[in-house]
Amino acid sequence: MIAPSLLSADFSNLQRDIDIIEDAGAKWLHLDIMDGHFVPNISYGPVLISKIRPHTKLFFDCHLMIENPELYLEDFKNAGVDLITVHVETCPHLDRVVSQIKELGMMAGVVLNPSTPLSSIEWILDKINIVLIMSVNPGFGGQKFIHSMVHKVMELKKMIINKNVDVLIEVDGGVTMDNAKMIKDAGADILVAGSSVFSQKDIRKAFIELSLEIK
Ligand code: DX5
Ligand code: ZN
Repeated sequence: MIAPSLLSADFSNLQRDIDIIEDAGAKWLHLDIMDGHFVPNISYGPVLISKIRPHTKLFFDCHLMIENPELYLEDFKNAGVDLITVHVETCPHLDRVVSQIKELGMMAGVVLNPSTPLSSIEWILDKINIVLIMSVNPGFGGQKFIHSMVHKVMELKKMIINKNVDVLIEVDGGVTMDNAKMIKDAGADILVAGSSVFSQKDIRKAFIELSLEIK
């Protein structure tokens, strides 16, 4: 499944862009939250999410690229988020943060930067719903896919099977028509796509073609 990332949408026409992908069959909307500290960019926060929440039925997949994410979990819950993923690099007490997300009634996931090893999630894998593998260095849309992440996805898939856990694999960054099938075949369940959907002239067509590519 393709999860379009709002980061590349037209911020002066958010409702139009969200309507287009929902109408084209999207089920998830990927929401990138950046604080200018953990990543060198600032995006948007819970206020914007709460404003778009009443206008769509899309599942809100919220990717927190912020320091001290535990301080903001309730704000995102109140804004209408369904799933929160936190970076292991921002959470010295990852087990506690994952529990807090679940106690608030949301799905919980963990994100790994490209250079962060899979071993960092070995002892949390049985407690989370999803692992998000970054295939670019987080902070910006439109970057080039880091090819070695295909192997990382394969290794993660093996880990999930060996541990016999029910965990989805999501891949984020640089997903295009040229690599989507390969990433899916490596074991990914959800592919985030920002610029290859929302920066295209025909957003509807781009979403549908990318979705068909991984059918
Ligand atoms: C990057 C974000 C991504 C971004 C992906 O830090 O986490 O979700 O929106 O954009 P593309 O698909 O253009 O690489
Ligand atoms: Zn993201």
